[in-house]
Amino acid sequence: MNNTGSDFRSYLDKLTALGLMHHVDDSVDWYLEAGAINRYLLESGLPGPVYSRVKDSIPGMRLAANMFATFPGIAVALGLPADTDVYDIIDSYLTRFGRTLEPVIASEGVCQQNVLLGDDANLNALPAVHGHPGDGGRYLGTFGVSVTKDPDSDWTNWGLYRGMIHGPRALGITLHPAINHGGRIMAAWHREDRPMPYAMFFGGDPLYTILGGPGAPPGVSEADIAGGMRDRPVELVRCETVDLMVPADAEIVVEGTVSPGDVLPEGPFAEYPGYLVSDPSPAPVVRVTAITYRDRAVLPTCSMGIPMDMVFPHIQMAANFKRVLLQARLPVAKVGVPVAGNGMAVVVSTDTPIAGLPQRIAATIWSDATGSKLTPYVIVVNTDVDPMDTGAVMHAIVAKCHPARDIHVYPGFYNAPLQPYLPSGPHKALGVGGANVLLDCTWPVELAPQDIPLRSDFTTSYPDDLKRRVEERVAGWNLPSITATGSGTGGTTPIRGTSRQPGRR
Ligand SMILES: Cc1cc2nc3c(=O)[nH]c(=O)nc-3n(C[C@H](O)[C@H](O)[C@H](O)COP(=O)(O)O)c2cc1C
Repeated sequence: MNNTGSDFRSYLDKLTALGLMHHVDDSVDWYLEAGAINRYLLESGLPGPVYSRVKDSIPGMRLAANMFATFPGIAVALGLPADTDVYDIIDSYLTRFGRTLEPVIASEGVCQQNVLLGDDANLNALPAVHGHPGDGGRYLGTFGVSVTKDPDSDWTNWGLYRGMIHGPRALGITLHPAINHGGRIMAAWHREDRPMPYAMFFGGDPLYTILGGPGAPPGVSEADIAGGMRDRPVELVRCETVDLMVPADAEIVVEGTVSPGDVLPEGPFAEYPGYLVSDPSPAPVVRVTAITYRDRAVLPTCSMGIPMDMVFPHIQMAANFKRVLLQARLPVAKVGVPVAGNGMAVVVSTDTPIAGLPQRIAATIWSDATGSKLTPYVIVVNTDVDPMDTGAVMHAIVAKCHPARDIHVYPGFYNAPLQPYLPSGPHKALGVGGANVLLDCTWPVELAPQDIPLRSDFTTSYPDDLKRRVEERVAGWNLPSITATGSGTGGTTPIRGTSRQPGRR
């Protein structure tokens, strides 16, 4: 039943075989301990955990973290070989995103092997973590996909919106009509004074979670995109208590309704920029009607911080920006969203000497829906710089970006309210007080080719035959590898932070 080999537990098995995940049999406390272990493992470059026993949780139910933290892991989630180069992952995503294939309906699903109804449905019995000191509570919804259906059309939306447990059957969700599609759909139900049916699912094909992030245009169902991207339709089953469909191979499903005016303070929460920046504010509450789950279900959880524990948004953002830049016919080479920037900076490389090209690149990115919110920093480099290599980008900034000539500040832009540098106050939630900046790290157009300084490094400075001889000689010395300085994330393994893959230094 629903055995596709592409579900979440199969994904974890593949990552375990690659050495990217590790099974933990000792009991772990959901209050801070699991969050601290998750961060420590991530920041030490160690495999992510799959916990078999979480305090107070339904026996046998498991918890997994850091499974989306490496590019090899994301490659596997997208059906690519683990050693796929990061720019090839970006191009593959770019090519496949947008294809659609309608889901098929199954009569039963493993996600309903266990069904808890009414008072038996207790959110506190799920292995949700209270991850950081200062968080407003236990966050069940981090990698949980919210399912909402437009009352007036066939559009079913999937979105990742954080969800805080208020009580056994109350889950606060950051649904907001101006910010996300789930909120927009909620507003349509509430305009007619009707409660909105709601479901949050966890797991299934990891692609489902990934697609719940930077989403599809309004009116387009992410389930159709998931089917199109993997060239196999998503199998859906009907929920037990609400008129919604969820993936048959999901690990856990929470069902409920959101009624007009039913809000409670939600937050704070240590968010994606790596700081505890979200003040408590009223958010809609899901009144839970059922919890269903697979035998030995695994709950995926996210441990936000510095560096981020998920790199799929970087792939999606880079693919999206590359698409809009190419549509604008701008001559760009590579587009990268470096991990160390927590999604707040984009780096674009080009060698085409056109006056004002960096400004057009920045303007195009800031005109895009995602870029207008999330990336106040646009950095343009020449093609000798790998945009995903933070050390190389840092060098380009200090060596080529003239402090008075090449830093272009644009005050007044909207910035995401979670941007840590925004001044606090009543207008912060509106993104007021923001600005954007372009760092132009390209050689000036008017510089004659013979005046461009020669770069000094092994790759560019020496003749090819000498380089080959040096490589052969040094290979014969059998030297141990030492950790490269300046890797993208400041201390973790190169595979997390740069485009380099193991063995491709
Ligand atoms: C792990 C994770 C958590 C997120 N949490 C939220 C959130 O709490 N609220 C929100 O509005 N967006 C959140 N986002 C961003 C949305 O998922 C993203 O904007 C997406 O486009 C929403 O889908 P939609 O466009 O269908 O609304 C999160 C993204 C990720 C990857």
